[in-house]
Amino acid sequence: MARVTSDNTKEYLESFLPEENSFVLKAKAEARRWQKDQISLSAYEAHLVCFFIRQFRCVRFIELGTLAGYSALKILESLPTEGHLWTFELNSERAQFASALFDEAGYKGRYTIIVGRAEEQLATIVAEAPFDGIFIDANKSSYPFYLDWSLKHLKPGGLLLADNTLMAGVADTHSPHPEKMIRELRAFNQELFQNPGLEAVILPTMEGLAVGVKRFS
Ligand code: DHB
Ligand code: MG
Repeated sequence: MARVTSDNTKEYLESFLPEENSFVLKAKAEARRWQKDQISLSAYEAHLVCFFIRQFRCVRFIELGTLAGYSALKILESLPTEGHLWTFELNSERAQFASALFDEAGYKGRYTIIVGRAEEQLATIVAEAPFDGIFIDANKSSYPFYLDWSLKHLKPGGLLLADNTLMAGVADTHSPHPEKMIRELRAFNQELFQNPGLEAVILPTMEGLAVGVKRFS
């Protein structure tokens, strides 16, 4: 499970959160079964994401990187009943699992799951723009593309969130991650702060959560 902070503080922060429902727990267990729980959001990271979604009053929202559906279920819970989530997943078996779980949780008709490379598949939803928000949590090499796409298709004032922008060691010369991934995330962060189309911060959690707002002009 990705960490928001040290283990003790993580446990303390999570003690304030309500119990997770059986559907969310099922998504978490499945991610663990796939040995992908280390890349799934932690409960507190999901809480941060949903806090922004609610405060920005997002209705039409995009997620890149469904995995087993843990974050998507929490996002769906945070959107109003007339809202819609478009969530993208590269792997069709994962998408099938997540889709069945969303239906079981009562969200049929309130989400669209799109299988394939998000960089290509995003084009299939441009007619649905503008969107109120986007959460980027897929392949790190496409983060600059996702940022560019988001600025074209978010409404002015729209919310941009991105996970892992400080991924353990982006700012560290002894990073445990592949050099390529670190270079890509550094390029994304540079763009995030320099692009005149948005104002952004990076919340300095362990993984780094970027929060940006598309400018009005
Ligand atoms: C990786 C991806 C993630 O989205 C994450 O939260 C942690 C790690 C990865 O690709 O290594
Ligand atoms: Mg992530």
